[in-house]
Amino acid sequence: MTSTIEPELDLALQEKARRVLPGGSFGNFPGDIVIREGRGGRVWDENGKEYVDFLLGSGPMLVGHAHPDVTAVAQERVAQGTTFFANNRHGIELAAAIVEAVPCAEQVRFVSTGSEADLYAMRAARAFRRRDKILKFEGGYHGMSDYSLMSLAPKRPGNFPQPIPDSAGIPKSVRDEILVAPFNDLDVVAGLVREHKDELAAIIVEPLQRIVPPAPGFLEGLRRITAENGILLIFDEVVTGFRLAYGGAQEYYGVVPDLCTLGKVIGGGFPLAAIAGRADIMAHFDRGTVGDDGFLMQVGTLSGNPVAAAAGLATLEILKRPGAYQRLFATGRELMGMLADLLKRNGIDAQVTGEPPLFDAVFSNEPVRDYRGTLRGDADMLRRFNALLREHGVLKGEQKYYVSLAHTSEDVRHTCDAWASALLQLVGRQ
Ligand SMILES: Cc1ncc(COP(=O)(O)O)c(C=O)c1O
Repeated sequence: MTSTIEPELDLALQEKARRVLPGGSFGNFPGDIVIREGRGGRVWDENGKEYVDFLLGSGPMLVGHAHPDVTAVAQERVAQGTTFFANNRHGIELAAAIVEAVPCAEQVRFVSTGSEADLYAMRAARAFRRRDKILKFEGGYHGMSDYSLMSLAPKRPGNFPQPIPDSAGIPKSVRDEILVAPFNDLDVVAGLVREHKDELAAIIVEPLQRIVPPAPGFLEGLRRITAENGILLIFDEVVTGFRLAYGGAQEYYGVVPDLCTLGKVIGGGFPLAAIAGRADIMAHFDRGTVGDDGFLMQVGTLSGNPVAAAAGLATLEILKRPGAYQRLFATGRELMGMLADLLKRNGIDAQVTGEPPLFDAVFSNEPVRDYRGTLRGDADMLRRFNALLREHGVLKGEQKYYVSLAHTSEDVRHTCDAWASALLQLVGRQ
């Protein structure tokens, strides 16, 4: 790997960032790295250091950075004007592509971020069911709204179903509207539904919760319990949409929700997300269909932005090509297998968990079934491992490797070498 190191350049930018940004960062990722550019499965920082990139912009860049087909379409669109507020051809075509691909999607409403999509999906469920409460799972991430930031990452987990707010500034009253259950525990869900079914509008779930897969029968059980009790089932597919399969987690796991949210991949690296689902629920976005009483107010300046929609459509075209998902899964499987093998050979207790397009290691000797299982992992060891990997030219999120269609066998080889060297350092043998 080539690298022209100019540390002063990076330090000056970091210093400026500390002055003008709270905490010196955008809030997403530590500010001690400033990314200059990305191509395929690699990124370069402002010092010129090169990394195999498993951060992938936190997931959108499934087909790789600066894919020539996506870049060409976006550049062409930019030259024709970048936003209009009114309908545009690309947004309409993208909605049609989503309806064709995603099993639950009869209609689509665009927004700009996954956080918004989740907020409006929950609001749509409330409007449709005319009930207020939502059940979510401990450790499940549904964006940044007051309702979503409940028991995402409690330091000291509480008693189910009481939610623990994850942020300052959330009104106390919001807690009364959220019930929290452990992921992969149908008995607890069934009990809570029995007790609260007349107040519950919906259950919202990440079908693959962070990197914890659903236990066999869990999603099917949620579908059955919600259907039997007249409660809506919302899949948060912001991460899994078009990633686990072209039809998302609902195709991959074979369970169809009433509503889902999409983001990341569908914007092709630009800000775009969506709520999609049954037409009778989506009708609440249309005053003309449901009248003043049932109307769900939703407007956004950049919703369905033509550049984002065109880039998203170009991304879906690439994913539709024969063999795309086979290739993505083959790369992911190879990486997961190699990581598990290296951990074992170094005598480290760990679980490599997730699905081939997104996974990570949890440094624990017990299989991980839920959020509390991830807490049993050695977080400090993971942090040190991640930091060592960065030194060895591998960039990833705190708790996730995102695999790209653009990752090559050379990228896989480099990653394995980095894992091997970092693990030796981690166990103190180098
Ligand atoms: C499952 C899930 N839902 C919602 C969101 C929020 O999306 P955004 O960051 O676009 O607001 C994320 C973001 O990572 C996510 O992983």
